[in-house]
Amino acid sequence: MKAFPSIEDLRQRARRRVPKMFFDYAEAGSYSQETLRANRSDFEKLKLRQRVMVDVDKRDTSTTILGEKVPVPLALGPIGLGGMMHGDGEILACRAAQAAGIPYTLSTMSINSIEDVAGAVDKPFWFQLYVMRDKGFMRELIQRAAAAKCSALMLTVDLQILGQRHCDVRNGLTVPPDIKIRNVIDIMTKPSWALSVLKGKRRTFGNLAGHVKGMENVGSLAQWTASQFDPSLSWKDLDWIKSQWPGKIILKGILDVEDAKVAAKAGVDAISVSNHGGRQLDGAESAIVALPKVVDAVGSDIEVMMDSGVRTGADIVRALALGAKSCIVGRSYIYGLGAGGEAGVARAIEILHRELDVTMALCGAKSIREIDRRVLADWASNR
Ligand code: GLV
Repeated sequence: MKAFPSIEDLRQRARRRVPKMFFDYAEAGSYSQETLRANRSDFEKLKLRQRVMVDVDKRDTSTTILGEKVPVPLALGPIGLGGMMHGDGEILACRAAQAAGIPYTLSTMSINSIEDVAGAVDKPFWFQLYVMRDKGFMRELIQRAAAAKCSALMLTVDLQILGQRHCDVRNGLTVPPDIKIRNVIDIMTKPSWALSVLKGKRRTFGNLAGHVKGMENVGSLAQWTASQFDPSLSWKDLDWIKSQWPGKIILKGILDVEDAKVAAKAGVDAISVSNHGGRQLDGAESAIVALPKVVDAVGSDIEVMMDSGVRTGADIVRALALGAKSCIVGRSYIYGLGAGGEAGVARAIEILHRELDVTMALCGAKSIREIDRRVLADWASNR
């Protein structure tokens, strides 16, 4: 994978290898994709300060996430349908993350099940929970995550109703893939993808099949989500989840300062400032713009992570400068998965790590601790 110097190169490769329906699913934002675009453009607007004649010979990108030492402030986030980007995609992504020493989060909506992944890796991973109407199933899912020794539960709080992604409607996205004539042609031109998916353990949602009614053929993802996900999700449900899960909890999907204040008092371990990669509330502000406001309000009370739009090591430096302790990536690694399975994910992590290291050095910072608002050009001159 050395021929792929950037996440964008991995993205181009994934686009050629993965059937359009699944590539588009990963790529899309909701509605007019305003927030999706803002997530990127707001990162790019934040200019870094170039510092010179600082001895940066010895550098250290390591830090901690939820108290665990990591070589880089990065975690792989939950991605629905990961196993449709590459056969056994979740197992491969988890292996790549663990080899790099960083956390991996398995999605409720994964293709490989919790048990598939736990049986194929040797260290604990995180499990992401969507709250569904069926509380019996929720209890069971949390117990399965505990039995698999998952080391944290990531509760996604911004998707009790799905924001529409127009391309999924146009493409007729169904799980398992509906073999219509246009899909057959697409799949026939993606033989390495087809082989990997055929060899993979599953072709539908591994955590749900056999446990949730109607899972054998989900059909339209949007309709299925509307029938199963719990739109009444509120802060009281968090108490119930805490009573079921004694371990660490991360709330992903906090964008507003008022919500961040409630989250900080709710007895969870971390929050991720996020707009779900621009896939939910279109018109919401970018996560990188929301981040410093949230950090100013609760950063001293709770560990603040961020996700949504992180594509380069420079983005990680910008997020850390604005007070995030670490970044979670989704598309940045899923492109690697589509491009080249485990090696592609490993390459994505390596690219982000190297870019972070070089960016940090050229900003005159030798360690993660030295990255603060002073590395940002406007921030430094305006204050
Ligand atoms: C699910 O998390 C999605 O964004 O599609």
